[in-house]
Amino acid sequence: MTRFLLVSVISALILGCGEQSPDSNSAVTSSAEGSGNAEPAPFKGLDFDYYLSAVEPIFLRHRGGFVGTDTSCVACHSSQVNAPLGLQPLTVENGQVFWTEEQSRQNFENVVMLSNPAAPESSRLLLAPLATTAGGERHSGGNFWNSTEHSEYRIIADWIASGDPNAGADPVVEVDFEFFRACVQPLFVNPIENAMPCTECHSGEFALPPPADAYWTVEQSRQAFESLAYLLDPGRPESSRFLHKPLHPDAGGDLMHNGGRRWYSADDPERAALASWVRGEARGDQCPAPLQYDYPVRL
Ligand code: HEC
Ligand code: HEC
Repeated sequence: MTRFLLVSVISALILGCGEQSPDSNSAVTSSAEGSGNAEPAPFKGLDFDYYLSAVEPIFLRHRGGFVGTDTSCVACHSSQVNAPLGLQPLTVENGQVFWTEEQSRQNFENVVMLSNPAAPESSRLLLAPLATTAGGERHSGGNFWNSTEHSEYRIIADWIASGDPNAGADPVVEVDFEFFRACVQPLFVNPIENAMPCTECHSGEFALPPPADAYWTVEQSRQAFESLAYLLDPGRPESSRFLHKPLHPDAGGDLMHNGGRRWYSADDPERAALASWVRGEARGDQCPAPLQYDYPVRL
């Protein structure tokens, strides 16, 4: 319990004062139908108090069990577990389990990213938990709402509809394959001192070893990339398992990893370069300094 609390506090601190730039990307609207002079309202004009009292409790609601749709959204969607949505790990204090206001604000920002006031029903926040038979999208978490009349759907839809109609969806971030192949994949065979290469344990997945005396073929890179995709949350490095697992817990990383730690600080230059890739910024095959490895040689 105390360890869990400690980690929550640490991550809250890190997220609270970290690279929280109110940057361009997170506020871009679908400029196609932008009306020129209309500056989008901060957080798309969505009300935080309404979010706090009506929307956030939905993520916390206990649903009676421990698997699939019997669990709460937060069981799968906290940054400790690392499915998208980026909910903060819950704070446990005096037998109470809750989000602090600061954590709720962080949740709010992430949830707003998945909301589209210009066309509420197209919001990713609404589509994932909605049954595909009712127009929803595939969701590993399962179907929570069998129709758009479900009370939880209505609460969230009404909230999104109350936002600034000029504020659209956040663009879906694309994580670049070329950069993965040139600059990320070699990491898996270049261990830090006294560590085993990732290929030692993850060869069946993202860390496919390269052929002897050769670079990975494009197909091999593709395969590894697709396998890594499950460990990435495009646009949000801080909730990407790939960047979370090998980070030391004292720096906000995962409590355990059988493969040990690769980064002892969240700002480790290698990790920062990877974060920029996960944000969709680093692209192409020109690798930044922290991601230049001599092995294997690419001809
Ligand atoms: C059993 C685990 C689990 C539960 C419970 C769960 N989810 Fe998910 N959810 C996932 C996973 C894994 C993904 C990643 C993509 C996918 O497979 O759909 C996901 C994806 C999503 C997305 C898509 C995010 C994006 O970037 O497009 C949203 C939104 C979402 N879930 C909302 C919810 C809400 C709201 C609840 C509760 C009503 C919930 N989920 C419950 C596992 C879960
Ligand atoms: C000695 C074996 C070993 C090595 C080396 C190793 N790992 Fe792991 N890793 C594991 C095991 C076992 C798990 C699953 C259990 C756990 O979380 O510890 C895991 C889990 C993970 C996960 C989470 C996977 C998931 O499905 O949630 C990531 C991401 C990861 N490792 C990344 C890496 C990276 C990157 C490297 C190289 C820098 C690496 N690992 C090196 C054994 C290893």
